[in-house]
Formats: sequence, structure tokens, C-alpha cells
Amino acid sequence: MAVETIPSVQVDASEPNEHGYRTFRLGEFEFSRNEYFVYVRWPTGSHVMSADSFLKALQRDVAWQFFYGIVNFDGVIGTVNHYGTVDLFAGRYNDAYRKAELDHLENFPTELIGETFKSMLDDWTNEGFDPFASPTETGSAFGPKHGDNRKAITRHRVTAQRMVSVPGDEQVRTDENGFPINRHFLDVAQDEPEVHPEPGFESEVAAFNLFAYLSRSDVTWNPSVVAACKDSLACPTTEEYILPIIHGNDRVEWFVQLSDEIWWNVEDRDTGTARANVVMKPGDVASMPADIRHQGYAPKRSMLLVWENASPDLPELLSSGKLPPVAVDF
Ligand code: PHB
Ligand code: FE
Repeated sequence: MAVETIPSVQVDASEPNEHGYRTFRLGEFEFSRNEYFVYVRWPTGSHVMSADSFLKALQRDVAWQFFYGIVNFDGVIGTVNHYGTVDLFAGRYNDAYRKAELDHLENFPTELIGETFKSMLDDWTNEGFDPFASPTETGSAFGPKHGDNRKAITRHRVTAQRMVSVPGDEQVRTDENGFPINRHFLDVAQDEPEVHPEPGFESEVAAFNLFAYLSRSDVTWNPSVVAACKDSLACPTTEEYILPIIHGNDRVEWFVQLSDEIWWNVEDRDTGTARANVVMKPGDVASMPADIRHQGYAPKRSMLLVWENASPDLPELLSSGKLPPVAVDF
């Protein structure tokens, strides 16, 4: 039996404007769009973003349930996850806005901001536009409202409980289940390991070809959990063009560059001051500190393993200074 959960919160949305798009209100924030742009207004200011950049960031915030720490849509707008509630901010992590006292922050129950963002993503995503796709693999975000793309914006998020390919868990990708090899990964071997478990251990012993799995990813900049061991989550992803958010860490993250190249702009998490350019080539490993924000640039589709420690204790251990923001001191 299909059970539909009916949200217990009320999304504040207007009737469609002359371009066909609804205007959304959340606390003292107002979000509206026209053919090209999204406007965000709050009591002390306002901000404009291109509709495609905004929707690509919004899609990730929705699909990742506000992720770890801060999701900056750009240098002004974003969210902070407090795991139960979420801050929506404008200019809070921007030195100039802070100094001019024009920044604004409001805290919301996760369900209210989540349902508002979901409705906005649904209303503002036109037919043919896929916010998860690379620029050459999607249609346009622009123009007056036409149709929708519910299939793309509600696609299944891979979150293996143990590991991809384990019986009853997330399964490998094939042509048959709708995941053809990406144009940039046609040279990736597709053979699968042979597994010969002893009788009785069929559900305990498993192996799969991670490179083949990633070569068939239809999305970009979308880490998915392919293996979990307690709080240790292996979250590989395929990247192309620009990470649509600037991620402000609330814990150390490890990156293992599995193929091709990604350039990371690394900035101070709270002010946006430049800290480093990190250019990662195949085989490179980086530990991203807990007090930075970063945005990746991939000139062609590449494979990146993001290794997360999902322990709920980490944000408090770091903000109280009980843990250093770096994994190692040299
Ligand atoms: C990150 O912020 O660490 C991150 C987010 C999405 C990706 C890769 C890395 O695809
Ligand atoms: Fe990050």
C-alpha cells in the first residue's frame, strides 16, 4: 500500500505572476522569479541570481536535506543545517554585508523550509531543465513557465545502508535499469568482480566495480552513499563544470580524486577570504578543514570520492574547540 505523507506545514505561495511563477514567502524572506532571474528580498536588502544557478543550488539543498553545515547558493544567500532546524541567511557569511549590518538570518523548523524549498523547486523548474545535469546534458532553465520536470527533481537519492550490490540494498547501474555509460566514460571497463561466498554468507559478502558504477551516473555534483560503516560514509560522485553551491564545512572532509581533474577554490568559511587553490589530479588525496568553504571546477566529467564522517557530535566538538579544524598538524 502506498502511504503518502502529508506535510503538516503550510507553504506560503502567491498566485502565478505574469511570467507564470509563484512568489514564495518564508519568515521575512521573499523569493520571486521571472524569465531569467531569481530575486531574494529581506527587510534590510535584496539580491539577484541567475535562475539556473539558483535552481541548481536549490536542488542540492532539497535533495541533501540541507547537507552538512552551510550551503551557500553564492556569496550572499544560503542555509545552515542545525539538524532539526535550518537557518536561512542573507549576507551572514559575507564580510561587507556584516560590516554594513545589512545581513539577515532566520531559523526555521527543517520541515517548513524543506517544504517551501521543494515547492519552489517544483514550481520554478521548467520542462527540459534538469538541475542535476551537466550544462551540455540539459535543456534551458529560462523563459516563461512551461511544464515541469518532476522526474528529474525527485529522482532517487542513493543511500546504501551497507554497500551497493549487497542483497536488499542499493543495486548496481546497468543499461537495462536506465543508466547508460556517460559520454566521457566510454573507456571505463565494465567487468564486475566475481564473488564466491561460502554457503550461508550470500548476504554478507559482496563486491562491485565502483568505476563502472560511477561511469553510469546521470548526475553531477551529487555525492551518494555507496558504502557505510557506522559513521564512515563513502560518498563518491561524478563532477563536470562547477559545483553549484559553495559548501561551508562543519567537519573535516576527505577527497580522493579517482579520475581526471578538479580545481577547488578554498575560502575562509565565515568571511569568504581566499585561502587556497587546490588542483587535484588522479590519485591525489586532500583533507578539507572544518573551517573552510569550497567550490569545485571540473573541466570534464571526473570521479571524486568524498569521505564523510557523519557523526552528529562533530559540529559541537568543533565549535567548542574540543576538536581542531584540521585532520593533522605538520
Ligand atoms: C563538498 O562540499 O564537499 C562537495 C559537495 C558536492 C560534491 C563534491 C563535494 O559533488
Ligand atoms: Fe564540502
